[in-house]
Order: sequence, then structure tokens, then C-alpha cells
Amino acid sequence: MSVSHLPSPSPIERQHSQTLVEHIRTQITQAGGSLSFEQFMQLALYAPGLGYYSAGLRKFGAAGDFVTAPELSPLFSHCVAQQCAEIFAQLEHPSILEFGAGSGVMAADILAELERLACLPERYAIVEISAELQQRQRETVQAKVPHLLERVVWLTTLPENFRGLVLGNEVLDAMPVQRFRIAENSIEEQQVIWNGEALVSQFAPANAVLTQAVREISGTLPLGYESEWNPHLVGWFAGLAAALTQAVVLLFDYGFPRREFYHPQRDTGTLMCHYRHHAHADALLYPGLQDMTTHVDFTAVAEAADAAGLRVLGYTPQMYFLLHTGLQARLAASDAQDIVAHTRLMQQAQPLIMPHEMGELFKVIALSKDLDIVLCGFQQNFINRL
Ligand SMILES: C[S@@+](CC[C@H](N)C(=O)[O-])C[C@H]1O[C@@H](n2cnc3c(N)ncnc32)[C@H](O)[C@@H]1O
Repeated sequence: MSVSHLPSPSPIERQHSQTLVEHIRTQITQAGGSLSFEQFMQLALYAPGLGYYSAGLRKFGAAGDFVTAPELSPLFSHCVAQQCAEIFAQLEHPSILEFGAGSGVMAADILAELERLACLPERYAIVEISAELQQRQRETVQAKVPHLLERVVWLTTLPENFRGLVLGNEVLDAMPVQRFRIAENSIEEQQVIWNGEALVSQFAPANAVLTQAVREISGTLPLGYESEWNPHLVGWFAGLAAALTQAVVLLFDYGFPRREFYHPQRDTGTLMCHYRHHAHADALLYPGLQDMTTHVDFTAVAEAADAAGLRVLGYTPQMYFLLHTGLQARLAASDAQDIVAHTRLMQQAQPLIMPHEMGELFKVIALSKDLDIVLCGFQQNFINRL
């Protein structure tokens, strides 16, 4: 894919990216000449002080690189709050735990709506690796619901004996992945090396773990087929499940069940980079300046959750989740006489629910630990497609 259409980074941004490239180059040397793509992605996104999510660049919203559902409209968070209220009715002293809270807008909007529903959590804990984002989240909550700021805490490790609702919007797609290619009688893994002038990628024989994983998932993929595999899911869900006493986990992201994810025609994988609202596939272009994501294999998510002792309660496209958690009612109740307010609300709802925007590609998966509950957001449940 051509990247000539991309906006040019400023001199300061170029300098920042160059510093990260130097850091990655040092890691390549120390590792004996190459890093796996997964190690490269880990550094590009999360190297302390330098990675895309660890450094202080503006990422979310119109002035950043991409827009997420909670940034588009408070309607999204209000629907999540509606689902939350139903779960809280089953629990004593519940809390919320959110992973990777971005600008903090979802936390603030959920808290505001739960207050309106007289159903506030004991506390709203955020697991956020970026100090700069923690600060931004604090400012957002302070600006939107200052009287509720005292309920919000920032954690660097998982809590113990958590009871309540766990949330993650577009967190799974930000986990570093391994990239593989189907070769003649073998599996190859993408690596990143330094060619004397720049970072470049190459393929080399995959290790036993990746080879086994690809053989288990892929069936008969054609020669030359490239895709991704997330090696972090099993460990992540094991850690999460161990932290929960009684809880529901709701994860929102774009992706598909395995047979769609590894569809023979999806032969270059799903890796995508986002730079100032332009999408492209060159992961080595602007390390530290661009987001890197992959779609989520929700079958792998369900398997990892199941292996960790979590029960898969539901799986549904975002449009159905939102419509059944009050979006339809909110749109119907909006005053059709106030044409400006009504139109604004409809415009906000559109990208969240239209099938060709976020409505269908984005899914919600619900998991539970020691809680038997039927969730209103999953009245149209596609769990059997996983
Ligand atoms: C695409 S952003 C989404 C931000 C926000 N949830 C939103 O919807 O606007 C991905 C976020 O996930 C976070 N993240 C990725 N892996 C994580 C992990 N293992 N634990 C906690 N946060 C993680 C990143 O740091 C980043 O803040």
C-alpha cells in the first residue's frame, strides 16, 4: 500500500521517532541481530517514554490519529452504564476496572450515567501503563464529573478479589502480535533487523511455539499466506481471572471468529497503522508516531478466557449490544420537535451502529467469573459462531 498520501511528521516528531529507532536498533544488536515482529511492536508501542502509548503524543480524537467509540459520543458509554447497572444489581459493593482508558472519556461518561441511575460503583479503577495518559484521564474526570474523581484510582498491577465489572475498549487490538508466513513445509516468522541504514523486515523459520500455534489454527492456508497470532492472550486472561472473585468482563473490539480471521482471502493479515486519521500497513514507517493494531480473533479470546476459568456469556456485534442497552430507547425518546438536538443525536449514533461503520465489525464479548446472569446487551447472542 502506498504511503505517499500520508501527512509529514514535524521535525520534533521525526526526532522523537529517530530516538526510538535508535533504541530499537540497540535492542536488535543486543539480541544478536534481529527482533521478532512482536518484540518490535512491543517497543514501538510501549518502550518507556518513547513508545506510541508511553510517550506524550496526542493520539485520540479529531486532533490525534484515530477515534474510538467512546470518543465519538457519550451514547456509547451510557449504554455500557446501562449494562453495568444490570450487573451491579446482582453484586454487593461492586467496582469497575477499566484497562487502557485512553483519554478517560468513557470512565467519566459511565460515572455520570451511573450516578443518574443511582448505581455508582464503590470505585472506578483504571489500569494504565502510560503516566501521561493517567494524567489526561484524571483531567477528563476532573472536568466532566469533578465530584466523582475521588472514586477513581489508577493501578499499575491488577487488584485482588475484584468484584464488579471489567471493561476494555480497543485494548486487545493493541497487544503486540507475532506475524507468520506459510512457507513450503514450514512456518516462517517475521523479524525486524537493521540493514545498516534502516529498520527492515525479513522472514526466518518460526520457533516451535509459533509453529504449533499456526498449525493448530490455520488448517490448510495457502503458500505465502501471512497473518498474525497473539501470544499474550492466554497469560493475560489467566492473570485477569485470578484477580476476580465475582465479575463480568466486557471487551469491545474489532475482529471476527477464527474462520473469518484466517480466511484464505485475508492473505496479508490484519495489521494496520494509523497516523493522523490515515490508515496504512507499513509498520516500520514512523515508529513511535503511529498506532499499530490488529483485528481480534475472538475464538482465541474465548478459548483463552475458558482456559482461565471464565465463562463466555455472550458475543455480539456492537450494534446489537448498543440497541439492546438503551440506544434505541434514547433515540426514540429524543425530542423530535427539537430538530437540531434530535439530528445531532442521530448523527452521533450512526457511526456506532451502522453495519458499514463500527456496528458490525466491532464486537462485544462478555465473560463471567462466578456469576450466572443473562445480560440485556446480548439478547442477540452469536456465541455459537465462535
Ligand atoms: C486503542 S487504545 C484505546 C483507548 C481507549 N480504551 C479508547 O477506547 O479510547 C488501546 C489502549 O490499550 C492499552 N493496553 C494495551 N495492552 C494493555 C494491557 N495489557 N493492559 C492494559 N492496557 C493495555 C494501551 O496502553 C492503550 O491505552
